[in-house]
Amino acid sequence: MAIQQVGVIGAGTMGNGIAHVFARTGFSVVLCDVERRFLDRALETITRNLDREVTKNKITLDDKATALKRIQPVTDRAKLADCDFVIEAATEKFEVKAEIFRDLDRLTRPEIILASNTSSISITKLAALTKRPERVIGMHFMNPVPVMKLVEVIRGLATSPDTFTTVRELSLKLEKTPVEVNDAPGFVSNRVLMPLINEAIYAVMEGVATPEAIDEVFKLGMAHPMGPLTLADFIGLDVCLDIMRVMEAGLGDPKYRPCPLLIKMVDAGWLGRKSGRGFYKY
Ligand SMILES: NC(=O)c1ccc[n+]([C@@H]2O[C@H](COP(=O)([O-])OP(=O)(O)OC[C@H]3O[C@@H](n4cnc5c(N)ncnc54)[C@H](O)[C@@H]3O)[C@@H](O)[C@H]2O)c1
Repeated sequence: MAIQQVGVIGAGTMGNGIAHVFARTGFSVVLCDVERRFLDRALETITRNLDREVTKNKITLDDKATALKRIQPVTDRAKLADCDFVIEAATEKFEVKAEIFRDLDRLTRPEIILASNTSSISITKLAALTKRPERVIGMHFMNPVPVMKLVEVIRGLATSPDTFTTVRELSLKLEKTPVEVNDAPGFVSNRVLMPLINEAIYAVMEGVATPEAIDEVFKLGMAHPMGPLTLADFIGLDVCLDIMRVMEAGLGDPKYRPCPLLIKMVDAGWLGRKSGRGFYKY
């Protein structure tokens, strides 16, 4: 079955980027969030990011207009019923995703693939909530989606070879590079990255160095394009905390305990770039 119409659930940092790349590649996109204002914000971001691509001569003004026209923002999830593929990019909480997967299973044609952009939650567990576990898969894009090449493609226990091949080919069509990973809390990217970020936050909390100094060490000493605390602000501190909690629960090792300073900052509403304040002010 040819995929023409794609559903994207969640229009936040990742959902808007995912809608952007699908629309730019020629798919029509139904973008769904719980409130109109989140969709408006997403369309503003997509417009701004497409403008950036026009300025860099990656696309023309016509391409931009066509891509925007392909995105249909909706708050009513039933509008995803005719989609040929759905990817979920909602908040990183199991209960939120569980409700979405149960509903999508009921709502969409049984033969279509349901993917999750989750950073850490078990694909096997999400798949088990549906009647089509062989057609549930992880498709983990990186932030910012229009720029970053990697897609971690995560096989749940029941994911079929056909589903894997389809998502691999879809990633290539979006000009991304798929990398196959098995289902384990945090997969590869966050299993390795989040403990680094968490440890950097411990270093701030214990007064080992300032955020600026820690980021400088990683930029100059390890040739990272940005330091771990700048990256944490970029990802969203709430997202980092959710991922640490999933890994702590799923791997059962105290080394994944979220740093108390991270918890405190999220409690204060300091979520990084998206809230205007994190380890830095924006
Ligand atoms: N931020 C990152 O750098 C990053 C990178 C890779 C993957 N992810 C993953 O992508 C997913 C989304 O993360 P994000 O950073 O975009 O979060 P975000 O907080 O920016 O956006 C989440 C969006 O989901 C919406 N939402 C919540 N419940 C919903 C529901 N029931 N139906 C429809 N929409 C709903 C929210 O209103 C919000 O707009 C998470 O699973 C996260 O782990 C994030």
